[in-house]
Amino acid sequence: MTQGCEPMTNEIDRARPAEPRGRGFAADVLDGLSRPEKRLSCLYFYDAVGCDLFDEITRLPDYYPTRVETDILASHGEEMLDGASEEAALFEFGSGSSRKTEILLERAPLLSLYAPIDVCASALDNARARLAARFPHLRVSPIAADFSRPVALPRDLAEDLAGRRRIGFFPGSTIGNFAPEEARGLLLAMRLLLGPGGRLIVGVDLKKEPSRLIAAYNDARGVTAAFNLNLLARINRELGGGFDLSGFGHQAIYDERAGRVEMRLVSRRRQTATIAGRDFAFSRGEAIHTEDCYKYAVDEFRAAASGAGWLPGRVWTDAEALFSVHELTAPLQ
Ligand code: AVI
Repeated sequence: MTQGCEPMTNEIDRARPAEPRGRGFAADVLDGLSRPEKRLSCLYFYDAVGCDLFDEITRLPDYYPTRVETDILASHGEEMLDGASEEAALFEFGSGSSRKTEILLERAPLLSLYAPIDVCASALDNARARLAARFPHLRVSPIAADFSRPVALPRDLAEDLAGRRRIGFFPGSTIGNFAPEEARGLLLAMRLLLGPGGRLIVGVDLKKEPSRLIAAYNDARGVTAAFNLNLLARINRELGGGFDLSGFGHQAIYDERAGRVEMRLVSRRRQTATIAGRDFAFSRGEAIHTEDCYKYAVDEFRAAASGAGWLPGRVWTDAEALFSVHELTAPLQ
């Protein structure tokens, strides 16, 4: 047990992705590039450069999820948090800048405790400063952690949570970056963290015309390509890697059978990259798989949530049915 922290639960271990992650950047990169089908974890997109590029993606005309989800939250945020009293605590999984949360907090003025969980400590600091200034009555208790791993709650937060109803917020369709079985494990772990009677508000991107999906992940301005390639640049920066970035191209395809967008980096030629003294050979056209983004039909997601023990509740979507926000409730026992 970490000193001064309350362990959450190991159930979240079920959310471990099939991809290389969890042993540290260097070990995971070497493992992923040694596999017959090369793979890097999308978790590693988010260094400082990657966070900035992702922020840019969320403002792109082609990348509809952020815009559409924000509109849904603005229109229905009050209903989503109805009944949230002063005693309720709001957890956010992968909070980033907490911009979307601000929309909810504006509509739930009684909420007095907010616990954002994110790997990016600087984003948590910025969000805390901004929210403290904007909502002086709100206690903000950031947790710098990867929410897909067991999360330790700081002791003072654990004490403050006693007797409070817990509401989770998991926007952005980040659930789509987990394979279905992992998503189920993650939803189960969230249910255990939020406790009996807890509520989860989760944003889920919907299945749609593949051309719309491809445009969102291969945008006309090339920002998603830069975001994907930054993974190789990060390996060069942090691990002394020898990737020639011009030798790789960004690719986004929609696998209709699996219901997911796949992002890859494809080698433009035969080449070798040396990382930490190890050579990795690439044939022309060989791909490194970098991300899966699963898309759901509304009923598919409700069934997945039921499989993790949640009671599916209300669902809010936009007029074009591009994106959905689901309310899930944890049974009382
Ligand atoms: C963070 N996640 C929900 C984004 C997505 O749409 O799957 C990551 C992303 N990858 C490329 N563009 C955006």
